[in-house]
Amino acid sequence: KETLIVDCDTGIDDALALLYLLHDPDVDIRAVTTVFGNTDADTAADNSLRVLELVGRQHIPVAVGARSNWRGTFSPAPSVHGDDGLGDTGLPAPRSTPISEPAAELIVRLARESPGELHLLAIGPLTNLATALLLEPKLPDLVKHVTVMGGAIHHPGNATPAAEANIHNDPEAAGMVLQAGWNVTLVPLDVTMAEVLTEEVKNRLGAADSPVATFAATILEHYLDFYEQDVFGVRRAACHDPLAAAIAVGDVPVVLGPIVAVEVETGDGPARGVTIADTRGKYRGFPAQEGASVRVVLATERTFPGRLAEQLCGSPGAG
Ligand code: BDR
Ligand code: CA
Repeated sequence: KETLIVDCDTGIDDALALLYLLHDPDVDIRAVTTVFGNTDADTAADNSLRVLELVGRQHIPVAVGARSNWRGTFSPAPSVHGDDGLGDTGLPAPRSTPISEPAAELIVRLARESPGELHLLAIGPLTNLATALLLEPKLPDLVKHVTVMGGAIHHPGNATPAAEANIHNDPEAAGMVLQAGWNVTLVPLDVTMAEVLTEEVKNRLGAADSPVATFAATILEHYLDFYEQDVFGVRRAACHDPLAAAIAVGDVPVVLGPIVAVEVETGDGPARGVTIADTRGKYRGFPAQEGASVRVVLATERTFPGRLAEQLCGSPGAG
C-alpha cells in the first residue's frame, strides 16, 4: 500500500487526481492539505471535502495551509478553474469541515508518527512543503518520497512564457523543496501537456452510470472550454495533476526520467519561477548526476487519460 499525503490547490485537475487515487484500493490517503493556487486555500479545502464526500471518505482529514506565498501574494486562476475552483457548476457546500491543525504542522506530525512511510504528493504551489521543512529540518529523513507536479524543463511555461504555475506561485518555496536532498519525482509540463483529456474522455465519463463519473464530466466541461479557447484551439485539456498522482503510485511507466539537480529562478525578471535542470547528458543515457536527487519525468507512454476515465467509471476503493 502507498501511504500518501496529498497537498493540493483543488482545482479541477486536482479533484480528478484525488478521485483517481480514491479509486485505487492500494492507496491509503492519510490526509489532504490545501494551499492557495487555483483558488484560495479555504475554498480548496471545501472542494477537497466535496470530493471526499462524493466517495464516502470524509473521515480523511483535510487541513488548510498557506493562504499566500512567502511574499504574501496570491492570484487565483478563475479562467482555468472557475471562481469556485471547480468550474462554477453550483455545487452544494460540503457537510464536513477542515481540521484546525495547519497543513505544515500536520505534515510534520504524520511524518514523525510514521517515519519512512509517507509519500508526499504535491500538486499545488510548494509553500506548505517548504514550511514543513522549516518546522522540521529532518523531514527529508522521515519521508519516503516526494512527487511534485510542477515546472517546465524543455517546454514553455503556462503562468508566464517560461514558468509553470505551481512553481511560479512560490519560487522560493519550490527551490527549497527541490533542493532539500530528499528523493523527488518532478512531473513537469513536458509530460502533463502531452497527456490530454479529450471530449471523448469527457463523453465516456458522462455516459457512465456513476455519480463520480458524472461529477468528473461536469467539471471537465469548464476545463475543456478554457483549454480550447486559450491553449490548444481544439477540445483537449492537459492532464497535469492526475498524471502526477498516477506516476506517484506507480501506475504510469516513466519512459525518460533522468536524476538531475533542479534549480528555480527567484529573480524578479521574466525568468521568475523557471525550473532549470541540466539535461545535457541525455544522449548518454542519463547517468544520475552526482548529489542530485530529483527524477525529472521527461516522457511517458501517453496512454493515461483513457485509464483515468476507466478508473473513474469503476467503483471507489474501500479505503
Ligand atoms: C498546475 O497548476 C494548476 O493550475 C493545476 O492544478 C496544476 O497543478 C499546472 O500548471
Ligand atoms: Ca493543482
